Amino acid sequence: MKRLAVLGHPVGHSRSPAMHTAALAELGLSAEWSYEAIDLAPDEFDARARAMAGEGFAGANVTVPHKGAALSLADSLSETAREIGAANTLSFEAGEIRADNTDAQGLLDALPEPPGAGRALVLGAGGAARAVVWALVREGVEVDVWNRTELRSNHLCEELGGTPLMAPDQSAYGLIVNTTAVGLRGEDPFEELPLRPDGFAAEQTVVDLVYGDRPSGLLTAAAGAGATVIDGIEVLVRQGALSLRIWTGRDAPLEAMRVAARR
Ligand code: ATR
Repeated sequence: MKRLAVLGHPVGHSRSPAMHTAALAELGLSAEWSYEAIDLAPDEFDARARAMAGEGFAGANVTVPHKGAALSLADSLSETAREIGAANTLSFEAGEIRADNTDAQGLLDALPEPPGAGRALVLGAGGAARAVVWALVREGVEVDVWNRTELRSNHLCEELGGTPLMAPDQSAYGLIVNTTAVGLRGEDPFEELPLRPDGFAAEQTVVDLVYGDRPSGLLTAAAGAGATVIDGIEVLVRQGALSLRIWTGRDAPLEAMRVAARR
């Protein structure tokens, strides 16, 4: 059996096990591959991750708060992981640990069309924002970055590109991506973020990486204005599909993954 896992803390809420288990079944790989969730406290991460190859693991997804530790642990890094400064995918091969980042391409794959040369607003300056800004800057998008704590957005843009700003004009962007945690605990996004519920337009695409059982307040308002909306589950599916291809070499069954991740 080749084992796969998602490593996080907490990880009980993760939809990755259901999503990947469904994908493996759809590909006819259930007899050879399995996927589980492993909750690791930060001080356990290095030792457990290093032991995994010996326990039959072929790979792992890495989520909050271990994406930086995963990068430091690896013997080799993809260029994307190195530049973003975070890894969400580990592969255990021939005694080596390789780190990749599929969050960046996962975001691009989730968009209905390539972002092109337009303008984008990224909200947040944490780990998730880094992958998003890196991906969009590389696509040639003009990226503005707002964060509650200005110092962090300044720092992110110095490293990865983009322009930090504190008072964005919501109507100026073809693409708006929320990478902040706002909404996770039921906060009102329009209290915490520099956006107005009536400030969206039909030509815009709005992505909210936050996901829960119901559409986020942000996406509900954007959809009400006729904007194209993409939720965090679609981005999760797309990054997971890319990770699965790294491990198995197979194209992932997106629809089966979506259904399982939304169940
Ligand atoms: P992740 O790796 O998921 O991006 P993170 O590094 O903890 O997690 O970043 C969380 C992001 O959500 C940050 O941009 C944070 O803003 P600060 O840098 O000011 O902390 C943002 N965030 C969390 N709660 C927020 C709130 N109530 N209002 C605005 N931004 C918030």
